[in-house]
Amino acid sequence: MAAVALLPLRIFAGFTFLFAGVDKLALNRSFLSLGSATSILAQLHGYARVSPLAPLITAIAIPNAWLMGVTIALAEMAVGVGVLTGLAFRLSAAGGAVLSFLFFLTASWDVHPYYFGQDLPYMMSFVTLAAAGDGGLYVLGPWLERRLGLAAAPPARRGRQSPAPTPMSPERRLLLHAAVVGAAAVAIAIVVRPLRDLLHSDDGSTGGLLGPLGSSGPAASTTGGGSGAAASAAPASSAGGSSALAIATAAQVAQAGAYGFQVPVQIGNASPGDPGIVVSLGSGKFAAFDAICTHAGCTVGYDPSAGYLICPCHGATYDPRNNAQPVAGPTNVPLTELPIAVSNGEITLRA
Ligand code: FES
Repeated sequence: MAAVALLPLRIFAGFTFLFAGVDKLALNRSFLSLGSATSILAQLHGYARVSPLAPLITAIAIPNAWLMGVTIALAEMAVGVGVLTGLAFRLSAAGGAVLSFLFFLTASWDVHPYYFGQDLPYMMSFVTLAAAGDGGLYVLGPWLERRLGLAAAPPARRGRQSPAPTPMSPERRLLLHAAVVGAAAVAIAIVVRPLRDLLHSDDGSTGGLLGPLGSSGPAASTTGGGSGAAASAAPASSAGGSSALAIATAAQVAQAGAYGFQVPVQIGNASPGDPGIVVSLGSGKFAAFDAICTHAGCTVGYDPSAGYLICPCHGATYDPRNNAQPVAGPTNVPLTELPIAVSNGEITLRA
C-alpha cells in the first residue's frame, strides 16, 4: 500500500532528477560553458557569497567547476534512474536526499522564508522514498538478475535439470544494482551530450534547433534593455589615487533605460569581469550596480516597463531607485552599488 501510494512521488522525483541531469549536460547551453553568466562557475561564485559551505566551494568546487557540474549532472541522473527503476532504490533515494540537502545549503540557502526554496521539499520527498522502499513495485532488479543468470527463473520456465543459482547476498545485490545505475547514468550522458551541439549553434545564435530556448538566462534576459551590448570600461582619467573608467554615455543608457558593461577592477564586493549595469533614474540621474544576483549568482536584467532589475533565474527583483534593495524574490541582500560620475554626457566608474 505504501509503495502504491508513493508511486506518484517516486515517478515525479525520479523523472525530475533524471531530467535535471540531462538538462545540465545537453539542453542547457550555458551550464557547462564556464564563460557564461549562468554557468556552474558563475553559480558557484554566487553560492560562495552566501552559503555556509563557502570555504569548500571556494577551495574545491570553483577550481574544478566543470568537473563539479558534470558530477552533479551524473549524480542527478543516477538518482533518477535508481528511483524510477527500483535498482538500488533506497541508496538512490538517499543519494537524492543528500544532493537536495547540498542544494539547500547552496542554491536555496539565501531563500527567505525557507519555504520558498524548492530543495527542502525534494529532500523530504527522497527521505520518504528511502524510508518506505519500493515495495517490490515496478522494479527491474529481479529481471536484471535473471538476465545475468544470477537468479533463478520463475518456476514455470525453469528446466528440471537447471539448478538454481546460489542466492545473492544483499550486499552483492546492492553493489550490482548500484553499478548498473551508475553505468546507466554514464550511458545516458554519452548519448545526450552530443545533442548539445545539435540543439545549439556554436556561435550562440539561433541556428540551433532550440534557438532562443538555449539562450535562457541573464545574458539574453527576457527583461530586456539591461542586457544590452556589454562594453568594456576604458580608463578616462586618474587623479588622487582613484581612476575614472568610462562605462557608457548618457545617450546609450537613455536609449533602453539601462546599459550593460563589464566591471574592470575590484570595487567593494564587485570583482573584475563581473557583469555591471548602469540604469537611468530619470532627470539626468544614473546608478550603476554589479549585475550578479545576490541570491545565487545569475545576472540581472533591466525591465524598463517596471523600472526594476529582475533576475531571470528565480525572480529576485531589485529597485534601482532605492540602492537596488530587493522588493521581491528569494533574497534580502541588495545588489552591490558601484560609484559613478557623470560629466559631459559620459558616465564613468570611480574605482
Ligand atoms: S539567482 Fe535566484 S533569484 Fe537570482
